[in-house]
Amino acid sequence: MAQLIDGKKISAEIKDELKKQVSELKADGKEITLAVIQVGNDPASSVYVGNKKKACEYIGIKSLAYELPEETTEEKLLSIIEELNNRDDVNGILVQLPLPSHINEDKVIETIDSKKDVDGFNPMSVGALSIGKKGFVSCTPAGIIQLLKRSNIEIEGKECVVVGRSNIVGKPMAMLLLRENGTVTVAHSRTKNLKEVTKRADILVAAVGKPKFITADYVKEGAVVIDVGIHRNENNKLCGDVDFESVEPKASAITPVPGGVGPMTIAMLMYNCVNGCQGE
Ligand code: GUN
Repeated sequence: MAQLIDGKKISAEIKDELKKQVSELKADGKEITLAVIQVGNDPASSVYVGNKKKACEYIGIKSLAYELPEETTEEKLLSIIEELNNRDDVNGILVQLPLPSHINEDKVIETIDSKKDVDGFNPMSVGALSIGKKGFVSCTPAGIIQLLKRSNIEIEGKECVVVGRSNIVGKPMAMLLLRENGTVTVAHSRTKNLKEVTKRADILVAAVGKPKFITADYVKEGAVVIDVGIHRNENNKLCGDVDFESVEPKASAITPVPGGVGPMTIAMLMYNCVNGCQGE
């Protein structure tokens, strides 16, 4: 039976470590503040934003909530970001995505000061990661590295295959695995003979975006399988990109959905807020 990588437990450990760190900072008179901006009231975004605020409260981070109406102009949003960039008491700025279609997301992300870009989405942050310099790292892939390290799974020298090449998960995941001295392949929807590629993996990260896409025949015996997906199946139950039932018996370790990668994203967002830019 595979080792179950418990993201709920590991994220709780990280949050408790941060809580202690924040209380020590407070004793020195230092407060951490995160500005969270939501435009419109997309229900999924409201849930995510609510969870981020709750995590801040638990850890002792002050959160400044900006709940802006759907019709907010791009100009107005950019001016709020500029104002937050210039405020010494604000450590992190997070603009919840997606934004309404009349606002250019790239422009918004580029406007956030890279020293406050706790999501790690700014091109400066992405560039810094790819050349091994100090910068914020995208939270989900950073959380996956923590899951592996805290489960004593070695990355160095391992064949790592990432399926998916998004800017938020696939690409930064590949960079982080490379930084940990893994041998990294990025596969995607146009990859030929995908099964042959994924079957080489000692560590397989599935960020495909399709429910139960990775079945046992994509996985090498004894592989570590990390599932980034989250979907609702036909019975309204949560499932991932990995067909857990068929893959689990073959894997040496696997993340469940829910309770695997999911809880790590917010924990790493909190980590970014408290610790600032990380790297060399
Ligand atoms: N929308 C979905 N996930 C995220 C995230 O991690 N950060 C932001 N800003 N928006 C999101």
